[in-house]
Amino acid sequence: VTRVAILDYPDYRPFDLEEATAAELGMRLSIVSIESFRQQPFAVDVRLNAGGWPLTGELLLASSCRWAVGYGIGMDWCGRDDARAHNVTVVNMPLANAPDVALHALALMLGTVRKLPFFDAQVRGGDFSSVAGMPLLRLEGRTLGLLGFGNIPRRLAQLARPLGLEILAFDPGVEPETIRDHGVTPVGSLTALLSRSHILSVHVPSTPTTQRLLDEKAIGLLPIGATLILTSRGEVYDPRAVAEALRRGHLAAAGIDVFDPEPPGLSHLLLHAPNTILTPHVAGWSVESVVSMHLTAAAVLRAIAAGDPLPPDARAYLP
Ligand SMILES: NC(=O)c1ccc[n+]([C@@H]2O[C@H](COP(=O)([O-])OP(=O)(O)OC[C@H]3O[C@@H](n4cnc5c(N)ncnc54)[C@H](O)[C@@H]3O)[C@@H](O)[C@H]2O)c1
Repeated sequence: VTRVAILDYPDYRPFDLEEATAAELGMRLSIVSIESFRQQPFAVDVRLNAGGWPLTGELLLASSCRWAVGYGIGMDWCGRDDARAHNVTVVNMPLANAPDVALHALALMLGTVRKLPFFDAQVRGGDFSSVAGMPLLRLEGRTLGLLGFGNIPRRLAQLARPLGLEILAFDPGVEPETIRDHGVTPVGSLTALLSRSHILSVHVPSTPTTQRLLDEKAIGLLPIGATLILTSRGEVYDPRAVAEALRRGHLAAAGIDVFDPEPPGLSHLLLHAPNTILTPHVAGWSVESVVSMHLTAAAVLRAIAAGDPLPPDARAYLP
């Protein structure tokens, strides 16, 4: 009998579809919290990692499994070496919530540029004057820089084009021709992207080479008064450098959905920096994205049971 464990994530409950599918396929399914799984890992054939919980070598070893399936795009919860060493096929859902993250990045961009939290607080406080919120700048004619040009920034470019922005992208893993095909101008280096971006939206995954990619030096290359939008992973930027740039005014504003660590804790520097919109890693959440993750997880179970190739919405990316 194939044993399946769902590593629970309350935001994605209930897992009725996975339970019904497992029952239909004669699989034995259990749902466990990550805390209890860490304390007492157990062997399964398929692990459905709903929360994208980090699965290190130790946990994989203590709980040998053949398949580990992440609910979403992020691929940072299981390292390549660990997966290879333990012979686990790691699967993600590369398009599950890309439209939602793109929309959230756009929302953060518009909210910060139009200073919505500031004006909202002012009106609620009985102050209807506008001068304290000046200046407000038009987006039209400004430049949006996309760091990384995977699925999410491609959608963001589509959403942002009607706003009259010039859109640039830097991604050494994507052919310049492909970037041009999306109506976006490729640039040849990170430095060139940073020095031209009035708004920088960051979409690089968290990997050993992107840790703190946006450090003090990189942020210093942005034009004075730039806006920073962070929706990929907290590890790719230096929170101290971002907070300091906001305080000095080098950054006019930042919209931030991802932190390191998560949750950030009340003393996290970015909770005390000016001109920010902060959201709790919800960029990818929509009813539609959650439904699509459940459907894909159920389809993965069917494919495993039948020995078929994975469904189109799932991709084995490791080892
Ligand atoms: N906030 C959220 O709720 C949420 C939800 C989903 C995904 N994400 C994050 O968004 C990230 C991006 O998603 P995607 O679907 O666009 O990913 P993707 O896998 O389609 O593309 C990632 C791109 O980043 C590029 N890249 C890697 N290192 C780079 C570097 N140093 N400089 C420039 N480009 C680099 C790669 O070449 C690749 O084209 C995911 O990795 C995930 O961590 C966040």
